[in-house]
Amino acid sequence: MQIKTQEIRTNLGEAVRLGFSKNPKSISSMFLYDAEGDRLFQEIMKMPEYYLTRCEEEIFHMQKEQILKEMQVFEEPFNLMEFGAGDGSKTKILLHYLLENGADFTYYPVDISKHILSELAYSLQQEMPALKVHPMNFDYFDAIRETTHLNNRRNITLFLGSNMGNFTREQAVDFYKNFARESKTGNLLFVGIDRRKNPHIISQAYDDPHGITAAFNLNLLRRMNREMGADFDMEAFRHYSFYEPVSGEVRSYLISLKDQQVYFETLEEQFFFKKDELIHTEISKKYSPEEIDRLAEEAGYKVLCHFTDERQYFLDSLWEVP
Ligand code: AVI
Repeated sequence: MQIKTQEIRTNLGEAVRLGFSKNPKSISSMFLYDAEGDRLFQEIMKMPEYYLTRCEEEIFHMQKEQILKEMQVFEEPFNLMEFGAGDGSKTKILLHYLLENGADFTYYPVDISKHILSELAYSLQQEMPALKVHPMNFDYFDAIRETTHLNNRRNITLFLGSNMGNFTREQAVDFYKNFARESKTGNLLFVGIDRRKNPHIISQAYDDPHGITAAFNLNLLRRMNREMGADFDMEAFRHYSFYEPVSGEVRSYLISLKDQQVYFETLEEQFFFKKDELIHTEISKKYSPEEIDRLAEEAGYKVLCHFTDERQYFLDSLWEVP
């Protein structure tokens, strides 16, 4: 299966130069996902503390008929896009059901990681040989441009797994506004969102006792060592994350444990880190259903309905471009 590839515009070198000149230093969370980052994120999704994946799976297993009915997928041919498709494990629940019930559609998984996309393409070919698939190794912004005017079919776009939570609220509004501007009336968005809940439950999901989230975050430095000839001492940085329940944001950082300097061969540049200095690596924002309604409306969508799991930890929200 051919993977459509586009140069990912934001490269790590530029991100380091720009991000390390800020105060506090920061790097976009999109760089967490090299092959090792993909593997560690799959480990995270298996952890009991990381409830998000299982809650969304439960929603799909229990409510797939209702979800697909609301999307009106059996009435006319459509394009099924998935932004940040990853290993596609949850989507496969919907894909099986769609195929078994004769829906006419093509699946376009989009991911920034070529590695995870080729694994997904391979597994889909094995498990669902009848499925029409066009994988796209694009970043979100190129993917919007590429997928909005693909053909005259209706687009249904999935943003699952709380990927939206990796934007600040402001970024999310801008992103979805732009998406709506580029979209045709009647196109649908199906967005997975982690809900606000007891802060202890959220904190544990991002600071697990197994050290897997720490390894995932620290892999960013390993990646720079591998790809950019940097000389980060892996013992000299530590993962730190905390959930702030008023803003609803989990913020993840790497802390420098001593005064140190790190040289990047590819940039021919040295960066200094003071003891206790932070590198901000990720935000994982949580929302209430009311906040979701307001965000979707502000971004220019009509909210059709919400689907939630039994414990009300997670929510999938269906939006229409009016
Ligand atoms: C991919 N994204 C939605 C995950 C999240 O929950 O923010 C990434 C993650 N980071 C730490 N654990 C999981």
